[in-house]
Amino acid sequence: MGAEGAGSRVLSGMRPTGRLHLGHYHGVVKNWVALQHEHQCYFFVADWHALTTGYDDTVELRQHTFDMVVDWLAAGVSPSAAVIFIQSKVPEHAELHLLLSMITPVSWLERAPSYKDMQARLNDRELATYGFLGYPVLQSADILMYRAGSVPVGADQVAHVELCREIARRFNHLYGREPDFEARCEAAVRKMGRKASRLYGDLRKAFVEQGDGDALERGRALLGEQRNLSNGDRERLFGYLEGGGRTILPEPEALLTKQAKVPGLDGEKMSKSYRNTISLREVPDAVAHKVRGMKTDPARVRRSDPGEPDNCPVYSLHEIYSDPATLEWAAGGCRSAGIGCVDCKQPLIDAINAEQAVMIERGRPFEEQPDLVHRVLQEGSEKARSVARETLDEVRASMRIAHQ
Ligand code: TRP
Ligand code: SF4
Repeated sequence: MGAEGAGSRVLSGMRPTGRLHLGHYHGVVKNWVALQHEHQCYFFVADWHALTTGYDDTVELRQHTFDMVVDWLAAGVSPSAAVIFIQSKVPEHAELHLLLSMITPVSWLERAPSYKDMQARLNDRELATYGFLGYPVLQSADILMYRAGSVPVGADQVAHVELCREIARRFNHLYGREPDFEARCEAAVRKMGRKASRLYGDLRKAFVEQGDGDALERGRALLGEQRNLSNGDRERLFGYLEGGGRTILPEPEALLTKQAKVPGLDGEKMSKSYRNTISLREVPDAVAHKVRGMKTDPARVRRSDPGEPDNCPVYSLHEIYSDPATLEWAAGGCRSAGIGCVDCKQPLIDAINAEQAVMIERGRPFEEQPDLVHRVLQEGSEKARSVARETLDEVRASMRIAHQ
């Protein structure tokens, strides 16, 4: 919530895992590409996050970062629409992480579902580290740094965004009180003009005294419409409306990406660790070869056996790639044994390759001239850094650790 202008900012990060596959594309990156034209977007490589679990093997970190960013660019994430950067190139993230760590109770972190889960799942590694426990605080710093309103994430990350909200709330509660807060608010209210000031006063009273949630929403909308308020005043009035202090770090919302279920070649979830992936920018022959080798409905042993598309991972891919007529052709032909699996797979191969052709083309210059990628990241990181510096100036000032 918080200031409306900043509220429309979108931020998301991804660990540097190297080349991406169709699961990443349909689950995450496609959504980023759509968002970048609607909102001010910040997308970054979470390389410090990679260290929270992978500190013992950093040999490929740089290469993985490069490969992943080339895939983002190939998939259509555009440096002219979104700010693309690397976390470690914006060291302000570390400072904000440190400051937030001072106010975050350890019990909040131990409660995070990923903490115990991941420790159990990655039991070959020592994960009882300080960095791993604190990684949701680092993630909170990533988000709060840009005052992001929405954070597109998968279901596994929603708990972290929730924790980020709690940290922001605690921060605002602790440091959002200026000595002359009320006087400043009253002065800001007067700048809105007589009619709007009166309405703001009434709505504030209705919420603070009677808990009228509707009044709170209307009050927020009213502030969003005001042209004469500075950002500082607007944030003060958002906080005052709720009966609290100034909102220094607005609370973000998780934007739950509806996770397109992308099956791997073996029918399990597509994942690098299962070695069942089709990569982005895979060459046409490789795509054809992989799809031809894909598992199908296990009940369909012979060409003459009818099959059930709902039990077939090939059909799940058709659902992502094919138009209604092709879907009907595949499902009908499968159930009647009118078509064979080889026939069924061909239009899918063609559709994946048509999509990949665009990405191969778009990725080529970046692959051939790595400096283009480095420049994108350098420029993005500088842009991100100037926003980060502003946030930190305010954070330090509100914590009273800004010195001459
Ligand atoms: N923790 C996320 C993951 O493991 C990556 C990430 C880091 C992130 N910082 C973020 C995602 C901020 C969204 C917002 O996938
Ligand atoms: Fe799967 Fe198509 Fe074969 Fe049916 S015909 S089992 S949907 S590949």
